[in-house]
Amino acid sequence: MANEFKEKTRLNGICPYFTMFPLDFPYSVLQRYAEPEEWVLDPFCGRGTTNYASRVLGLPSIGIDSSPVAVAISEAKLANTSPKAIVKVANRILDSVKTAEIPTGEFWELAYHKTVLSLLCRLRAGLNDDCRSNARKALRAIILGALHGPQNKTIDSYFSNQSQRTYAPKPKYAVKFWKEKNFEPKPVNVLEIIKQRAERYYLEETVKAKGRIIKGDSREQSTFSQIDQNITWVLTSPPYYGMRTYVPDQWLRMWFLGGKAEVDYSMNGQIDHPSPSLFAAQLNQVWRNVGVKCQPHAQLVVRFGGVNDRKADPQEIIMTSLRNSGWEVREIVSAGFASEGRRQAVHINQAIKAPKEEYDIWAVWQGT
Ligand SMILES: C[S@@+](CC[C@H](N)C(=O)[O-])C[C@H]1O[C@@H](n2cnc3c(N)ncnc32)[C@H](O)[C@@H]1O
Repeated sequence: MANEFKEKTRLNGICPYFTMFPLDFPYSVLQRYAEPEEWVLDPFCGRGTTNYASRVLGLPSIGIDSSPVAVAISEAKLANTSPKAIVKVANRILDSVKTAEIPTGEFWELAYHKTVLSLLCRLRAGLNDDCRSNARKALRAIILGALHGPQNKTIDSYFSNQSQRTYAPKPKYAVKFWKEKNFEPKPVNVLEIIKQRAERYYLEETVKAKGRIIKGDSREQSTFSQIDQNITWVLTSPPYYGMRTYVPDQWLRMWFLGGKAEVDYSMNGQIDHPSPSLFAAQLNQVWRNVGVKCQPHAQLVVRFGGVNDRKADPQEIIMTSLRNSGWEVREIVSAGFASEGRRQAVHINQAIKAPKEEYDIWAVWQGT
């Protein structure tokens, strides 16, 4: 992707997400084929890459995800706001929320400097109380993006002690690591980090977004009852078979969104992975639900691949899932190997020994 395009689409990087597809995948499909005003849907929107590509192209879009973290990030991709409004709302929250519950224990003492944790807890309380406005949605995702990451000697850009940015540190491991290395949390300037990030992500954002993000389980028909548009484009990437750690790996961001101050191992609303055929059956239900909201001859483009810890053929799984779904498969195109770029499987917390090929499956809605 050209540098100029990357500069203009910085908002897509507001918060890392464990898995994602590159922006140029949905962008190039929609730029090439979509007509103005056509509605775009992603029933597994993750960090909202499809929705953001739609925004950049001036297309209205809907995203669905069952993970609160994914929904919070995606909502920020559709927020129409400005750096000034974001900083203002952060100050307003801190002016009105003077105290908040602060988690205790060794992990929290080492993860954040106590002045930082106190401010974060007040912002958390304020945003959990009210996150309806665009500025609040943007602020929430900015904080999620800065919640944990590497410490930098010159500029502070994360709130936490030395950590990974993509997935949250597991408490026991992190405490041991910080102690062994003598890493201390810094008293970073929370409001300054927010301001810098607001300017980075929202200064250039002039394309007005149209659409919404729905928090829900795409296997459930009722999730789709909230959609009253006729969808023309469905661009998506479901979890790859065997990838089941989206929620626990995002536990700190889940905490900020109002969850418990501990690793969350519940899998509510997430597709199950008991066997390839049962996995495909759940996807089949999603494709049917999606179809009900589509106009005749709507197009579906699914990027799918595999991880190495399971003996399952990704192409067979996806083709089984599309059988008798109302979607007619027209083309299967290789999207390259997971190790070549920022593909979904590269982002998982496991070594990729023999990268698997990823595919784009193109299908047309033939149902009624
Ligand atoms: C591969 S990720 C999508 C990544 C996305 N393409 C992006 O660029 O960020 C798959 C997403 O499916 C979501 N998911 C899993 N099961 C779901 C379900 N039953 N309903 C809705 N979303 C689900 C996960 O939370 C995860 O965000």
